[in-house]
Amino acid sequence: MSSPRNYIQTCLQAIKPVSSHASSQSHGQAFAPSNIALIKYWGKREKTFNLPLTDSLSISLGKLGTTTHIRAYQGPEDKVILNHTHVASGTEFYQRISRFLDLFRATKQDCYEVDTYSNIPIKAGLASSASGFAALTLALNDFHKWQLPLSTLSTFARLGSGSAARSLFSGFVKWHRGEQSDGADSYAEPLKTNWPELCIGLVILSDETKPIGSTEAMNRTRETSYLYKQWPLQVKENLQSMEHALNTKDFTLLGQTAEQNALSMHATMLSSWPPICYSTPESLKIMHQIWQLRTEGIPVYFTQDAGPNIKLLFEKNYQQAIEQAFAQKVKIIAPFEVT
Ligand code: PMV
Repeated sequence: MSSPRNYIQTCLQAIKPVSSHASSQSHGQAFAPSNIALIKYWGKREKTFNLPLTDSLSISLGKLGTTTHIRAYQGPEDKVILNHTHVASGTEFYQRISRFLDLFRATKQDCYEVDTYSNIPIKAGLASSASGFAALTLALNDFHKWQLPLSTLSTFARLGSGSAARSLFSGFVKWHRGEQSDGADSYAEPLKTNWPELCIGLVILSDETKPIGSTEAMNRTRETSYLYKQWPLQVKENLQSMEHALNTKDFTLLGQTAEQNALSMHATMLSSWPPICYSTPESLKIMHQIWQLRTEGIPVYFTQDAGPNIKLLFEKNYQQAIEQAFAQKVKIIAPFEVT
């Protein structure tokens, strides 16, 4: 079977000129938005290539995300800078980046300097790794002048972090599970819907590192949860509803579908063994507050990823009501707003 490095090197060999450091420009840079799944990716059909068991659908977070600069580095190993601070080579963060860069190096001696800045909390279930690997992939493409199609770059970013496949695009994005064993057809693409009134409220309850990483959590769920057997079926139905909601601009359907999909994903985790619970008492408090607001006639829904933070979904005309209800705790983003 092919390996991720073979897959990437085969794609790169098809490009002329050969993408070594020598033929690259002095510096590459890119921005990639963070994304929040409305229909979640939870569970892999193949682990080495990060291939998902189901399709998924997300919304990108506009200007919230990661900016990355990359250049050749004359040193014995890569140099990594995160938010203006040098990252030690023994850390997990450094290792993940360096292992990802291994897939692209023309020779072992080709080292990179990666200077990355993220305006979102790292590892708080706000998909900072998604925007991080997407920005790194786009920066590599810029640095090496590959000019590869975004669908191919999406398959590259996926090898760093599954959900990074979706972070190459703005707006609503669908990631196709694909069928091929090397994942060549498992890429994301943007959807046409433009929804300027749509707002996302980030209720950040913790920016601490999560107790269990998403890869370990999804593998455990797949292996031990009885409820997980239903998950692919539910995703299929939820995707149909969500795409219908996007095509008809039906906010209630969007909100209900996203909230039910997120709660079902967390239910599969709770039914794993040992159980996985990303929610804290604070997360539950926010959920109850949202359900209460709905009974008071405020159309607000939520979604939640591999962390305790809750992401509100509502439309612009309810922004004031949301700000009042959640006071200082909420950061509001309008993903389609052009400024
Ligand atoms: O891409 P990963 O391995 O960080 O997994 C992402 C998992 C969720 O955020 C919970 C769901 C998703 O589709 O983004």
